[in-house]
Amino acid sequence: SAAEKGGYDYFMLKEIAEQPKAVADTLLGRIDGSGSLRLDEVRIPASVLREVDKVVIVACGTAFHAGLIAKYAIEHWTRIPCEVELASEFRYRDPILDQQTLVIAISQSGETMDTLMALRHAREQGAKVLAICNTNGSTIPRESDAVLYTHAGPEVAVASTKAFLTQLVACYLVALYLGQVRGTKYGDEIRDVVCDLSEMPGAVERVLGTMEPVRELARSLAPKGTVLFLGRHVGYPVALEGALKLKELAYMHAEGFAAGELKHGPIALIEEDLPVVVVVPSPRGRSVLHDKIVSNIQEIRARGARTIVIAEEGDEAVVPYADHLVRVPVTPTLLQPLVATVPLQVFACELATARGNEVDQPRNLAKSVTVE
Ligand code: AGP
Repeated sequence: SAAEKGGYDYFMLKEIAEQPKAVADTLLGRIDGSGSLRLDEVRIPASVLREVDKVVIVACGTAFHAGLIAKYAIEHWTRIPCEVELASEFRYRDPILDQQTLVIAISQSGETMDTLMALRHAREQGAKVLAICNTNGSTIPRESDAVLYTHAGPEVAVASTKAFLTQLVACYLVALYLGQVRGTKYGDEIRDVVCDLSEMPGAVERVLGTMEPVRELARSLAPKGTVLFLGRHVGYPVALEGALKLKELAYMHAEGFAAGELKHGPIALIEEDLPVVVVVPSPRGRSVLHDKIVSNIQEIRARGARTIVIAEEGDEAVVPYADHLVRVPVTPTLLQPLVATVPLQVFACELATARGNEVDQPRNLAKSVTVE
C-alpha cells in the first residue's frame, strides 16, 4: 500500500532514501568512545582470529559485489590474503579450506541457497564461518559460527540498495576489527577510518540531496540499448553493481569493466553517443590510479562516447572530459563505494520508471533465490 511505501511511489525509492539511517544503524553501538571497534556479536574468539591465514568471501549478486569491495579493505588493513567467490561456483571446484580459513558469507535474506550450500561446504572442511546478514534468525546466520547483522531494516524491493550499503559497512567493520585484533601496522589508519565511517551517513544524505540531474539524465537515456560502466580499485565493483542494477530494473544491456581492461578488448564497443559511466577514484592518495582513469575517460570520449563521470568534490581534472558530472563527497579511498553507488541506484531506478518497467518487482526475478 501507499502507506507502507512511506509516501514514495516504490519501495525501492523509499529504501534508497533510508540509506543514511541504515548506514548509521549498522554502525550503532559497534564503536566505543575511544574509537575502538566493539563487535561482541562476532563470537569467534580473538585467539582464533589471530590464527586466520586466509579469508574467503562467498555471496551472490549484489552481496558478491560487496564482497569484492571487502577484499580491498581486508587485504589492506589486515594483510591477510582474501578471495571472493560467487557462492554458486565455490564448492564445485574443490576449494582449499581448513581450520585457519575464515569464510564470510554475505546475504541480505539469509536464505540464498547457493550461499547456504557454500557455507555448509566450508564448515564441513573445518573453516569458521561468519555471516553478514540482514534477516534475524534466517538460515545462513543460524548455520554459521557467528553473525554480524546489518541493520538496514526490511528490504522489500527486489533490487538491493540499502542492504548493499550496510553490507559494505559490515565488511569494513570486520576488516577493521580483524586489523585491530591482530594489531597491524595500520593501527593509526584504522582509528582514522573508524572515525571517517561515522561521517558516512551524512555523506550519503548529501548525495541523495543532489540527485535531480541524475534522474533527468536517466530519463533522457530511456531509448538507449546499452550502458557501460567503468571503474578501478573499489570503483570496479561499484561499476559491476551499477550494471547489475540497470540489467535488473531497466532490462538494458549493461556491463561493468575494470577501466584498465578497456584496451584489452572492451574499448572496441565504444561508439558515437554510447553512454559510459565512469567511477573516478579520489585524486588524493592513490593519485596514479586517478590519472590513469582520467586518460581512460579522454580515450573513450575521443571515440564519441557520452561520458557520465562520478567524481569527488573538488576533482577538477575530470571536468573537461565529462559530458555529465556527478559529484560525490570526499571520503577515504576504500569508503568511496558508500557514496559512489547511490547515484547508480537512482539512475537505474529512474531509467526503469521511464521505460515503464515494474521497479519493485522486475520480470523473472525473486527477492530471495531459495533454489540452487
Ligand atoms: C540484487 O539487486 C539482487 N536482486 C540479487 O543479486 C541479490 O543480491 C542476490 O540474489 C543475493 O541475495 P541475498 O543477499 O539475499 O543472499
